[in-house]
Amino acid sequence: MKLLRVALALLLLPCLVQAVEPISLGLAAFGAVSALTGLLSSHKLYCYFRDCCGQGRFLNSTALQVDLDRKLYGQHLVKKVILKAVTGFLRNPNPKKPLTLSLHGWTGTGKNLVSRIIAENIYKGGLKSPYVHQFVSTLHFPHILDVDRYQDQLQAWIQGNVSTCENSIFIFDEMDKMHPGLIDAIKPFLDYYEQLDGISYHKAIFIFLSNAGAEKITQVALDFWKNGKQREELQLKDLDPVLSVTVFNNKNSGFWHSSLIDKNLIDYFVPFLPLEYRHVKMCVAAELHTRGYIADPEIITRVAEEMTYFPKTERIYSDKGCKTVSAKLDFYL
Ligand SMILES: *[C@@H]1O[C@H](CO)[C@@H](O)[C@H](O)[C@H]1NC(C)=O
Ligand SMILES: *[C@@H]1O[C@H](CO)[C@@H](O)[C@H](O)[C@H]1NC(C)=O
Repeated sequence: MKLLRVALALLLLPCLVQAVEPISLGLAAFGAVSALTGLLSSHKLYCYFRDCCGQGRFLNSTALQVDLDRKLYGQHLVKKVILKAVTGFLRNPNPKKPLTLSLHGWTGTGKNLVSRIIAENIYKGGLKSPYVHQFVSTLHFPHILDVDRYQDQLQAWIQGNVSTCENSIFIFDEMDKMHPGLIDAIKPFLDYYEQLDGISYHKAIFIFLSNAGAEKITQVALDFWKNGKQREELQLKDLDPVLSVTVFNNKNSGFWHSSLIDKNLIDYFVPFLPLEYRHVKMCVAAELHTRGYIADPEIITRVAEEMTYFPKTERIYSDKGCKTVSAKLDFYL
């Protein structure tokens, strides 16, 4: 019993430490030792039911992998990059800059799903955690004339949130609808600076989502298919370089001529491949399972066949990925 308590104390110490300022740390540590035993039960409860900033260091990489395997279909490259990038970053006690991931691909291929999986594996509250912040361009930054104000706001938010919790996660959805230039406002935070106004951003995670580059990805995947090669043989090096160039040169990517790319501040460009008929079927089966139904092959085939596929002649890729699967399924159940 005593051993268990000590083990718990060690486990919880980082959660407590997060809550105090560095200067008072020495004092706090001294006081904490005596106070800890008493506090322990309540604090354990606290971290169990609510999120503690910095709990990402306890990331269970097996659980992350299982989650990706179970929920994400047809994206062998994504799984590999995300697992490596996120695990590596969280294991590093002294990252030199924040982790920046840029997810690219057609609608319905799993970009939102992956950002949710990352958030949920780091913070139990997932996207609802107080340490996870999501910005949707059309919602948070809708007016082109207000770009200056948005820039100030965005800087203040990120600064405010990271000073509260340095392990904050920021997700920018619809990057392709963001006004060029706005994203450059956060450049200083993504850079290698030790500190800015006394705040270090090195432990934060920034995730960008966009459709930009999807056409390029499709083209590469299609060429591969035409050459009779397996989709799973596609490697990151087939896609990564073309992707960054395409996104940089695309006026509607949110990253157009962005210094984030120019200065190599994006760590990973993650390509989401367009989904095929067989992947759509997997999505339908999973959705049936989630709703507590058995995987009826007939329903699965019917829903998958209802989707539209492109290019016109080959008809290989679902043009909405798995996005409308759920709605179409309602019709059959
Ligand atoms: C990590 O996750 C795996 C798979 O979900 C689970 O079996 C294992 O018990 C977890 N390990 C810890 C230490 O929580
Ligand atoms: C944190 O970000 C949110 C937006 O997600 C913002 O509303 C809030 O004011 C920020 N908090 C601080 C302390 O700046």
